[in-house]
Amino acid sequence: MNEGGLIMQRRKNSGPRNGKQKPEKETRSETDKSNYSKGKRSFSSDSVAGKKYAPKSGAPKQKASTLEDGIRINRYIANAGICSRREAESYILAGVISINGKVTTDLSTKVKYGDIVKFNDAPLAPEKKTYVLLNKPKGYVTTFDDPKSRKTVIDLVQSKCRERIFPVGKLDIDTTGVLLLTNDGELTEKLTNQKNNKKKIYQVTLDKTVKEDDLQKLLNGIELEDGAVKATTIAYTDPENLREVGIELYSSKNHIVRRMFEHIGYNVMKLDCVYFAGLTKKDLPRGKCRFLSEKEITMLKRGLYS
Ligand code: URA
Repeated sequence: MNEGGLIMQRRKNSGPRNGKQKPEKETRSETDKSNYSKGKRSFSSDSVAGKKYAPKSGAPKQKASTLEDGIRINRYIANAGICSRREAESYILAGVISINGKVTTDLSTKVKYGDIVKFNDAPLAPEKKTYVLLNKPKGYVTTFDDPKSRKTVIDLVQSKCRERIFPVGKLDIDTTGVLLLTNDGELTEKLTNQKNNKKKIYQVTLDKTVKEDDLQKLLNGIELEDGAVKATTIAYTDPENLREVGIELYSSKNHIVRRMFEHIGYNVMKLDCVYFAGLTKKDLPRGKCRFLSEKEITMLKRGLYS
């Protein structure tokens, strides 16, 4: 076993890992060819996997049971799907939140059934929590609104879901693959927390064949301008094509995969996210989205994934 704890073996389509998580079958409807094998591990690329802060109009229809005793104001705002609880606190302190027409900067304030909470002039209503998985195509930015008016991932999901959902994490405009969108601010915070990064697997196509020594450098760890980073697993995905590798890592820094390869002298030509926090894009064609199942939502909330 090498330093990174991996055997770099050029082997294709190895079986499931220790019978733990059964890799799912790949849909090959597009260019998604990606079963990564590395020693005893195999990664399947399978697809398992308002606007601004303007809320919907109309008074919120709350369940009396939820709001009878009141819920903390930051939680109410997070439930409205516009931000995390922590971010909500900064909005409260900034004086942009009012309850029944009165601005509150008190973080201990509770919202009761029937209260009208506004973000500036816009009423906030807790929305149904919604979780959507998108197989992102190239050419879409991962933001809600783009100042340059480019196509956004929201354009691809809004016909399916009326709630204002936001991307969890970021994929570059030309990166494809697994992207979760939700209005669950708490889950977003959990999944994007820098101190507790979640596993991601990417299939990468480079501009030239990659030397094994260079893969080893990424396993050993490299120093970028914003800190150290390393791959936890890396392998060729196809013994016949040494320009393609699968890389597993836990960093959520911007452009991290592209920067890692640039650091060792390669340019990334294609980048496809095939796994994020237990989700893959199995059976989900590029550009399409679907709602998560209850099972998947529970898995995410409880952190029941590797
Ligand atoms: N790393 C990158 O370089 N780009 C992405 O979109 C995701 C990870």
